[in-house]
Order: sequence, then C-alpha cells, then structure tokens
Amino acid sequence: MKSSNSNSVLITGGGSGIGEGTAKYLAKQGSRVTICGRSEDKLIRVSNEIGSSCHYVVADINKENERERLLQEAVEHGKGLNALINSAGNMYRVPLEDLDENSLMDIFKTNVIAGMMLSKESLKHLKESKGSIVFISSVHTKRSFSGASPYAATKGAIETLTQVMASELGEFGVRVNCVSPGAVISEINIRAGLFSKEENLDRMSRLAPEHVLGRIGTATEIAEAIAYLIEAKWTSGAILRVDGGLSLGKIKD
Ligand SMILES: NC(=O)c1ccc[n+]([C@@H]2O[C@H](COP(=O)([O-])OP(=O)(O)OC[C@H]3O[C@@H](n4cnc5c(N)ncnc54)[C@H](OP(=O)(O)O)[C@@H]3O)[C@@H](O)[C@H]2O)c1
Repeated sequence: MKSSNSNSVLITGGGSGIGEGTAKYLAKQGSRVTICGRSEDKLIRVSNEIGSSCHYVVADINKENERERLLQEAVEHGKGLNALINSAGNMYRVPLEDLDENSLMDIFKTNVIAGMMLSKESLKHLKESKGSIVFISSVHTKRSFSGASPYAATKGAIETLTQVMASELGEFGVRVNCVSPGAVISEINIRAGLFSKEENLDRMSRLAPEHVLGRIGTATEIAEAIAYLIEAKWTSGAILRVDGGLSLGKIKD
C-alpha cells in the first residue's frame, strides 16, 4: 500500500475497536485523521497515541449539529476531505419476543441513518477530492446469530445502500465501498451490556474455529482492507469480506 501523504480521513467511532485500528493504521501511512465518538477519554487516549496527525472531536453522530461541527473540524484539520469511514456502530441483540421499538429505532439511527446523513453532508468535499466513503457491514449478513436480527438488519441495509450510493455517485468520481468483517475483539458487545470483558474474550475463543482460517481477526486486518478501498480507484460498490472465512459457513462432514 503506497503512502497517502495528501489523505484527509474522517473516521467515526475512532475511539475504540476497528475505528481505532483504522485511525492508527492510516496515520502511520501518512494520512491526517479525524476521529469522533461520545466518550472523550477514549478519544484522548487514541489521539495521544497517534500524535499530531490525529484530531479528535467529541460528537454524537446521531445529532445533526454535532455532525456539522465534526465535518467542519475534519476539513480544517485535514485541509479537505479524501475519505469518510463510517465505523461507529452499536449492537442490539434480543430474542424476538423482547424486541423493543425504541431500541430498534436507535440502532437503525446510529448504524444506518447517521452514516447516510454524514455521507450526504460530506459530499461537497468528497466531490472536490474525488474521494470515497467506506461503510462497515458484518458477517451477520451471511451467518445467523440467534437474537441478532436488529443488528443484522442494519448491516443488510449497509450492504444494499453501499451499492446504490456507489451507482449514484460514480459520475462525480466519488466511490462507495464496504468492508464486512468477521469477529474482531472490540467493545461493541460489552457496551451493549451483553458480555463482560472476560466473557467477550471467552466468546471470541469459542468463535475462532468457526472461521476457516481458525482464528478471529484484528482491527489492523480490517484497517488494511479499508486502506485498500480508499486507494482502489476502479473499485466502487464492493462488499469486501474480511472475515477469516467465517461467512463461508464451512460444515465439517
Ligand atoms: N468487532 C467485530 O467483531 C465487528 C464485526 C463486524 C462488524 N463490526 C462493525 O465495526 C464497526 C466498529 O465496531 P467495533 O467492533 O470496533 O466496536 P467498538 O469498539 O464498540 O467501536 C464502535 C465505536 O462507535 C462509537 N459510537 C457508537 N455510537 C456512536 C454515536 N452515536 N456517535 C459517535 N460515535 C458512536 C463508540 O464510541 P462511544 O460509545 O464513545 O460513542 C465506539 O468507540 C461497527 O459498525 C460494527 O458494527 C464489528
């Protein structure tokens, strides 16, 4: 991967997990990165670890005025915008009989609507730079995890809207792609109150053999795919599965 000294990248949810790994990876490649999230302590830690090429903004992507400030600061920090990485996301997993409408609306707002709106709001800058948008889907669109229909539905929406937005924005030289990861250690299930940190690690080791490559992935391995999609000038509408083969659903027969 060549270094992109001129790249300015906005990464939502950059205070942990895949967003954090992507911010660190792209900054190492020479990009100026802006990260956001709602918890300042996490953003300060990541920003300090990266150094001056990283700017952080405490912002809730569900709020229009906070997205506006986020975008403005990202453009100022990066002197323009070359890529928007919509990594912020939440998990909502319950049996169908316990499904709560407000929680369902909330997860769609964060996982789907906020990223779509931020894409719209970034468009002027992305048209200028002939830049790109990367969404993060999930292996949940290919493997059924019990009780995870709310989360899986948001990720199905992400894969579909990636393709339609790619069709719509091609004429402006703006590319839209999506990375679909397998299991990666992060805070998402812990923040959702589903597992403790220890239970999460235990669950990950139980999931490892389900991947044909026999292990879970790292945030850096997802970042490599995101970096590829930012640079891949003839790729738009791609759903890149970076999941150690978990989506293959291998059956030992
Ligand atoms: N880890 C996996 O195995 C896996 C697999 C497939 C796909 N994914 C996807 O990868 C993406 C990153 O998730 P992750 O696993 O890295 O989890 P994570 O560590 O929990 O990261 C998600 C980040 O999003 C931020 N966030 C949530 N709601 C937000 C909001 N309203 N405004 C701004 N920031 C918000 C969170 O920070 P605050 O709470 O501080 O705001 C958090 O730092 C998600 O889209 C997830 O669905 C993850």
